[in-house]
Amino acid sequence: MTSLMKKYYVTTPIYYVNSDPHIGTAYTTILADTAARYHKMLGEESFFLTGTDEHGDKIAQSAAKRGLAPKEFVDQISEKFRALWPQLLVRPDRFIRTTDEQHKLVVQQVLQRLHEKGDTYFGEYEGLYCTGCERFRTEKELVDGKCPDHGTEPERIKESNYFFRMSRYQQWWLDYINANPEVIRPERYRNEVLGFLREPLEDLCISRPKSRLTWGIELPFDKNYVTYVWFDALLNYLSGIDYGDGDTWGAWWAECEHLIAKDILKPHGVYWPIMLHAADFPIFQHLTVHGYWNFRDAKISKSSGKPVGTEPLLRVFGVDAVRYFLLREMVFGLDASFSVDAMVKRINSDLANDLGNLFSRVAKLIGDFFGGKIPPSCAPDTELLNVSRKLMSDAPDWVAEHKWNVLLEEVMQFVRATNRYFESSAPWSLVKSDMVAAGNVLYNCAEALRIAAVSLHPIMPGKMTELLSRMGEPIEKFEWTSAMKWGLARSGAAMQKGDALFPRIDEAALPALLPEFYTAQTDSKSPAPKSEVPLLDIEDFRKLELRSAVVTAAEKISGSDKLLKLQVDIGGAQRQIVAGVAQYYSPEQMIGKHIVVVANLKPAKLRGEISEGMLLAVKWDNELQVINLGEAVPPGSSIS
Ligand code: MSP
Repeated sequence: MTSLMKKYYVTTPIYYVNSDPHIGTAYTTILADTAARYHKMLGEESFFLTGTDEHGDKIAQSAAKRGLAPKEFVDQISEKFRALWPQLLVRPDRFIRTTDEQHKLVVQQVLQRLHEKGDTYFGEYEGLYCTGCERFRTEKELVDGKCPDHGTEPERIKESNYFFRMSRYQQWWLDYINANPEVIRPERYRNEVLGFLREPLEDLCISRPKSRLTWGIELPFDKNYVTYVWFDALLNYLSGIDYGDGDTWGAWWAECEHLIAKDILKPHGVYWPIMLHAADFPIFQHLTVHGYWNFRDAKISKSSGKPVGTEPLLRVFGVDAVRYFLLREMVFGLDASFSVDAMVKRINSDLANDLGNLFSRVAKLIGDFFGGKIPPSCAPDTELLNVSRKLMSDAPDWVAEHKWNVLLEEVMQFVRATNRYFESSAPWSLVKSDMVAAGNVLYNCAEALRIAAVSLHPIMPGKMTELLSRMGEPIEKFEWTSAMKWGLARSGAAMQKGDALFPRIDEAALPALLPEFYTAQTDSKSPAPKSEVPLLDIEDFRKLELRSAVVTAAEKISGSDKLLKLQVDIGGAQRQIVAGVAQYYSPEQMIGKHIVVVANLKPAKLRGEISEGMLLAVKWDNELQVINLGEAVPPGSSIS
């Protein structure tokens, strides 16, 4: 039976399995997951497809490098992707692999159809092939003779192959975009595609001779050839909804949105719609394109040698905060810059301070004065009510247009308005004179927290489920317009403060926890910077005695704006250290830090004060962070 609910079908690119998942691939997948969750909450039925792209030269070469058969290799890496998604709270409805038998049948069926329609021909071709892109590049696309995306010289290949008559449909596609501009968005990428279409389109080479590559899907009309990897890969969007098996696929296909980054705009914005049209399929609803996540001005990618794994970030910040940061920080369509500093600032200010603290303070007062039960409500606060109503009506448009930064900023404005209301109403002192009024303030704050949690749930499903359950809210399923109505928090329900929802992150501890994000330069493409420092013999290094220590007291040194005088405990023994950290840390901030000390330095006098060691810190640009080991490390431990 087909359901009458409106449908939403969202896809990510299927990722190459020549290497592990990273922040970039995680981003598009989190984005698709969030969109699918919101659409569900908005009363639609959603289907979210992701998967892995497993054929082609690149994969065959990676497998060979590791001494594995291609299938053995793709099974291993594909599994890494599949296993990562639950850790990112990503729940695809299907994980497709291009090595799935059902997918292969769909590819062969479509190829056969194009062949029978006369949209393919056999001919000789000579061109410049980039293995990184898995496509021929035109001379014009190269920069200094190299692929602009991979920095490698493409290989000149001359061979007989099958071609798809793409040029036949160039004018049709141009007219279609002009009549339906929203089919490619944002506008800058639509313009880029229109730019491709201003030049004459070359026909697309859609095969590879088996004499050169066997790792692919065989052409149904010539067993000496396999199909070109992009032709195979793009069709996952149809096989993923079971095209060819019954007729449910059609209703999903009619509501399809593809999410990609700008790197694969040409295959999606030119080849794919033309393939669809030639094979008599309708066109997707939207091709929605985002920019790159960069790290120190270069695109994060598996080949860049940059720190790119999500695992350390999940370990240190938690999955909900990672999802929040990625969606909050990128302005859709533009590039965004990834840094641990930006992430900490965002998490500490939005999540720990604004949202987490509000929850703790409200729950604490409800615990102290109302027996831990949400008090009765008398009247909503007009400002909060209006802001929540506006959020309820605006958010669906922002979801549809992927304006995640705007949506999140609006939710945070609402949270900040609630903080101001809490501060100015001062319920902690109102309880002394008017319990009913104080109860009403706390009810309104609890209700605002509930509404904020509902609207943030698709982005932070873990923590928002926790927040709601700490206020006795069932969370199985929300329906936007009813869940966002003011007044649903239940008076009398238990409100439990619990531990901080988003513990504040200690910035100083991060260089030790995430060293890969702090090291000066890890770009494998650029040569290692020449060191000015003489090379040390290992024996010289062993002479250093590095120990953990805890700072027990700290004070400024009069007459110096750079130095602090620290008393440190290095495992029972007390030492005094004069450290040049006063421009970065106040004495109070230093107390309690678990630091690393060079313990066998000859004592020296600085500004008249004896210094019996040195502490270790990381310095870059205009920043300095003392290496903080964290409380688990006992003072006096030797560091090797
Ligand atoms: N296999 C093809 C896609 C075939 S789809 C029919 C492919 N795979 S890929 O592994 O290279 O993935 C590219 C996609 O990964 C990008 O379009 C984007 O979704 C995501 N990203 C990879 N690096 C990224 C960034 N640094 N920033 C943002 N997105 C990133 O191309």
